[in-house]
Amino acid sequence: MKVSLLNLKLQYQGIRDEVLKEIEKVCDNQSFILGENVKALEQEIAHYCNAKFAIGVASGTDAILLPLMAAGIGAGDRVVTTPYTFFATAGSIARLNAIPVFVDIEPDTYNIDHEKLEYVIKKQSASHRSRLKAIIPVHLYGQCADMEPILKISKKYKLTVIEDAAQTIGAEYNGKMAGSMGDFGSFSFYPSKNLGGFGDGGMVTANNERLAEKIRIMRVHGSKPKYYHKFVGINSRLDELQAAVLRVKLKHLPTWEKNRMERAKRYDKLFQDAGIPDMVSAPTVRPYNHHVFNQYIIRVKRRDSLREYLAKQGIGTEIYYPVPLHLQQCFKYLGYKRGDFPVSEKAAKETLALPIYPELTPEEQEYVVDKIGGFYRKCNI
Ligand SMILES: Cc1ncc(COP(=O)(O)O)c(C=O)c1O
Repeated sequence: MKVSLLNLKLQYQGIRDEVLKEIEKVCDNQSFILGENVKALEQEIAHYCNAKFAIGVASGTDAILLPLMAAGIGAGDRVVTTPYTFFATAGSIARLNAIPVFVDIEPDTYNIDHEKLEYVIKKQSASHRSRLKAIIPVHLYGQCADMEPILKISKKYKLTVIEDAAQTIGAEYNGKMAGSMGDFGSFSFYPSKNLGGFGDGGMVTANNERLAEKIRIMRVHGSKPKYYHKFVGINSRLDELQAAVLRVKLKHLPTWEKNRMERAKRYDKLFQDAGIPDMVSAPTVRPYNHHVFNQYIIRVKRRDSLREYLAKQGIGTEIYYPVPLHLQQCFKYLGYKRGDFPVSEKAAKETLALPIYPELTPEEQEYVVDKIGGFYRKCNI
């Protein structure tokens, strides 16, 4: 049997006619930039995420960069986030010549550890603390960070909060939607996301009208009206073709997310039944969280050998992420060293993403768990 990490063709088969009809309409209209589909999608996403405003942008990366720009973050400013996330989170901070300030993660959810957050803030020198301007809590793998204490600390230190919800559209924290709790929410429509386009795309959510308007201006080179530039912005527009595809997909998202959750539960049960609890830890879901399982991440012993073994059995897996950001070559200048964020460093060595998507069959999941069990029995550990 072959079980790939992700199979988008299966999803496409179910929506092919709907999608092609909408693409055809865009082609007939020949209006490709910031047209009626983008406008409608913005309203639909705002509604879905329970945010007042949503602004379509060119990628999930720009959905982080633009809020930072709108918040006035610039050279020498400091922005808090975790070192255990996709590069874009910290890369966007660094692109503005601002400085990423890392805080380690919780070992079970892989999200920022709020207990360490205030400690790191307090440890900054007075001059550094005065430059601390924003925080980007990342809702990793489909589960929100513990936002209540994060928001409290952010308020105390007057930090702009940008939720990196790239992997987490539709997730809830204490009944609040991901992307609706901070000053901004950042979403990615990269094809592997729960709501994935046919290329790159992203969305910023916001509740403050002035800030939302600033993002809208920033995404068109800072101009309003056209050719009159109030700010130096960038070109970051979601295009009509992507918006048309995403609008079709958004209608199916609640069903797909329900299917993802069912598959996550099935994995949990299969691992329980397999009797390998010392070798494999299934994901932790906090009771206040509604997890949308963009990824199903297990923590395992002998991760790299297991991964190699599974590949030979036709099972696709991935490591998100093998090198925490504080140890990336490009961030050497920040002065961090190995051992600074032990929880992130350990997670980078032990975590493995298994295939999860709405169309994954029970037989495929049984095969995956059976092969993982087989690996540990073979190792005799
Ligand atoms: C946590 C996180 N932040 C940001 C991004 C950036 O999104 P994009 O790839 O759409 O630029 C991603 C996407 O991979 C992500 O997973």
